[in-house]
Amino acid sequence: MKRLVVLISGRGRNLQALIEAQRAGHLPVEFAAVISNRADAAGLDHARDAGIPAEVLPHAQFSDRAAFDTALAARLRELQSDIVVLAGFMRILTDDFVREFEGRMLNIHPSLLPKYAGLDTHRRALAAGDVEHGATVHFVTPTLDSGPSVIQGRFSIRPEDDAASLAQRAMEHIELKIYPQAVAWMARGELSLQDGAAVLRGRRLEQPATLDDLEDAFR
Ligand code: GRF
Repeated sequence: MKRLVVLISGRGRNLQALIEAQRAGHLPVEFAAVISNRADAAGLDHARDAGIPAEVLPHAQFSDRAAFDTALAARLRELQSDIVVLAGFMRILTDDFVREFEGRMLNIHPSLLPKYAGLDTHRRALAAGDVEHGATVHFVTPTLDSGPSVIQGRFSIRPEDDAASLAQRAMEHIELKIYPQAVAWMARGELSLQDGAAVLRGRRLEQPATLDDLEDAFR
């Protein structure tokens, strides 16, 4: 069984979806720990409620980004983490950290990557007059929000939408489905990063998988 560590900073809705998928028998992992860089992250309670070790590594106590990342990497090694899942982890990671876990680390981003790397994605999609929006799971590589995409879900933007309604639909209809699916693929050894490309069941993904590719358990 693969050992999973989930890194969070906030509410932990994606974390909760992973916990539920694991409980339902759809995600063959053992949660080694949930680590937050903020002591007040609500997601820590989801971990505690599920009996998962909930740890806080407060970034403010480190002199700089590299020192924090060094400590985090050391902890992930101690935990013998096979898969690292960034679930609303609001930290930019150093190249050294990313290289150590490259191929074993996934992130979810609330936009149709490569559009809108970084913050404020919902407002930016509206400001650009986009007709569609969504969310993407991708491998983490040194450039922020730019690693090879694994699965992406999209929906139509409606005239009455605002940033809050887009955030809500992206979370509910897309994120909470595609992340457990992507982590399940990885846990089963069906998803890997090879020569800079996401490979799913032996096939190099020129385009990310879509909602149509979700297995029934994740729909
Ligand atoms: C999600 O929208 C995720 O895509 C982004 O941060 C948010 C985290 O939400 N990276 P939660 O902590 O999973 O509730």
